[in-house]
Amino acid sequence: MQQSTECRVIIPAAGSGSRMQSEVPKQYLLLAGKPVLQHTLDALLQHPAMRRVLLVLAPDDSHFDRFDWSTYAKSLVVARIGGDSRAASVRNGLRYLQPHTADSDWVLVHDAARPCLGQAELQRLFAELQPHPVGGILAVPVADTLKRADSAQHIEATVSRAHLWQAQTPQMFRYGLLLRALQNAADEGVTDEASAVEQLGLHPALVMGSARNIKITLPGDLPFAEWILQQKEMR
Ligand code: C5P
Repeated sequence: MQQSTECRVIIPAAGSGSRMQSEVPKQYLLLAGKPVLQHTLDALLQHPAMRRVLLVLAPDDSHFDRFDWSTYAKSLVVARIGGDSRAASVRNGLRYLQPHTADSDWVLVHDAARPCLGQAELQRLFAELQPHPVGGILAVPVADTLKRADSAQHIEATVSRAHLWQAQTPQMFRYGLLLRALQNAADEGVTDEASAVEQLGLHPALVMGSARNIKITLPGDLPFAEWILQQKEMR
């Protein structure tokens, strides 16, 4: 596989974040005085290979323009082309990049609401995947004992955690492969890019992530994320 230093970045940010019980989508909630999305952008743009980010917004997004994004004028491209699912939003983002992107270029996809991504994990993902023929994702081995619930919320079974990992983002694949995977997959059940790639019969790599790379999902996640960011600054 040809080596490429090009790395496109897509942030799908067209979700409504209904689990957050907030009128405002979670990427715009304030975290340490700034919108969550701004922390996410700052984390990605610190990496020298990630100079430009394509932000995929919902066509009717009314929150983005309420903030000042002028410091990102050279690094941020905003497209209001989000779809009904994460997979559709990423697929639309990939098509948007098509005129400027070679099939062998790397594309990195990262959740808008993962603002605590550390440089060590980002560098590890980028470095470990350079020679990889398929690509891969940040993930962490499952630490807790897993239970499958019945419909009355009682334990039906204990599920072995051996070989189980929790998928995170960023997820990084070659452009041509990822576009083919997302064009081929049915959107339902494709909650990350890797699952679409797996449907082609391929096996993305699992690169060690960090428990600190949380996705803001529930209201209690915000103070925890703030604490993680403070710890990052102190190091
Ligand atoms: O809902 P969930 O947390 O899994 O969303 C993951 C990411 O996908 C978020 O950044 C969200 O904004 C994005 N998304 C999207 N288009 C959708 C649904 C989710 O861009 N239709």
